Amino acid sequence: MNIVDIILDKRYGRTLTDEQIKFFVKGVTDRSIPDYQTSALLMAIVLNGMNEREMTTLTLEMAASGEQNDLSFVGDVTVDKHSTGGVGDKITPLVMALSSSFGVRTVKLTGRGLGFTGGTVDKFSSIEGFNIDIPKADFPRLVNETGMVISGQTPDLAPADKILYALRDVTGTVSSIPLIASSIMSKKLAGGADAIVLDVTTGSGAFMKTFEESRQIADAMIRIGDRAGRKTIAVITDMDQPMGRYCGNVLEMKEVYDTLNGRGAQDVVEVATTIAAKMIKLAGKNGGLSDEDLLNECKARLKDGRALAEFIKLIKSQGGNVGEDGPVYTAEPVKVFDVKAEDSGFVFSMKTNELGHCSVALGAGRITKDDVIDLGAGIRFMKKKGDPVRYGDVLCSLYVGKNSPLLSNEKAISEIADRVYKAYEINTSRPLSIRPVIDVLGDK
Ligand code: URA
Repeated sequence: MNIVDIILDKRYGRTLTDEQIKFFVKGVTDRSIPDYQTSALLMAIVLNGMNEREMTTLTLEMAASGEQNDLSFVGDVTVDKHSTGGVGDKITPLVMALSSSFGVRTVKLTGRGLGFTGGTVDKFSSIEGFNIDIPKADFPRLVNETGMVISGQTPDLAPADKILYALRDVTGTVSSIPLIASSIMSKKLAGGADAIVLDVTTGSGAFMKTFEESRQIADAMIRIGDRAGRKTIAVITDMDQPMGRYCGNVLEMKEVYDTLNGRGAQDVVEVATTIAAKMIKLAGKNGGLSDEDLLNECKARLKDGRALAEFIKLIKSQGGNVGEDGPVYTAEPVKVFDVKAEDSGFVFSMKTNELGHCSVALGAGRITKDDVIDLGAGIRFMKKKGDPVRYGDVLCSLYVGKNSPLLSNEKAISEIADRVYKAYEINTSRPLSIRPVIDVLGDK
């Protein structure tokens, strides 16, 4: 077998055999296939696609290219959750706490943020003392003690995906249903959970900008999961505006705490409870409740302290400091600017990815992987889509950490504020409908 024939087969729209796909992934992983040939095949896949069998083989091979987690020590059905990313996405800690309150045992491997979307590793790192790099040998003890563990993803999970993703990023081959679906699912399969709930975000702050694109990717991932023997449900959620009231690491963790104290924003509550309910159902811990009753029970547990108790247990078990008013943070957000409306009407749209980039410019995220994050930086959104606005109202406030160099750089702050203002569209009419949860696929 040789790689040139494989490239030619895909170039002419033929389906690849399992052996060809295995040869390709092995050659990518052991670096025997040079980047130019890998890139040529990636482009042929972008242009001519892959069928369900090819996608599944690609995914399974990428999952098998590195270490695969064995979660049998959990002794129960394990359910993983994954989000395709967004601005202000603070759903993971909420669904872990909620599902744990129903007895679901969770091993969550999670990533750092890069680009305009935040990473769960960084959010948890904003809690003083919290250890997000848990050695695998400690997983069983922690799961036995608290029912949960969360840890940063190690590089040996699906290394073929790491190599392919880096090449896709620089060869115009990121956007492709089989490549995105296999990339995400390879990491989920290698993670070892029995079942998976996918939060597929859609809109201006998401990877997939339209509902149709999101539905197609969700559908492909469900089919891969099912073929790989992992029951998979996808929840398509709105990322056409930032999620909740805050973006930024400490700010979002504070919002998580507020939500667990019954003071959550409607979209955060809606998305978190929908995803948690699907995880609980897949784990078989719904106790015979109907879907609707389970959703309502999740909402009740965000108010009555049961989910909060699980969250505090998780924080303490991984070394995090918790005071009287909740977790203690490593950075203190300082408000530096109120962005005010220069018009009256309604917030008609928000350029969510630009707001994410502005949050990164304030220090809340990374542009390159070695950048150091200002955990106190971020944005508080007072006005969101559909809200009435009068001239002079504060649309949102900008924050930086108390040691930020931006504190003495008024010009930089005012430039960011200008960009933030331009990301809001104020119009005389309201946007038609705003639904945090747009669809649920694969729940049959
Ligand atoms: N996230 C991934 O992990 N891979 C992709 O290809 C796209 C988003």
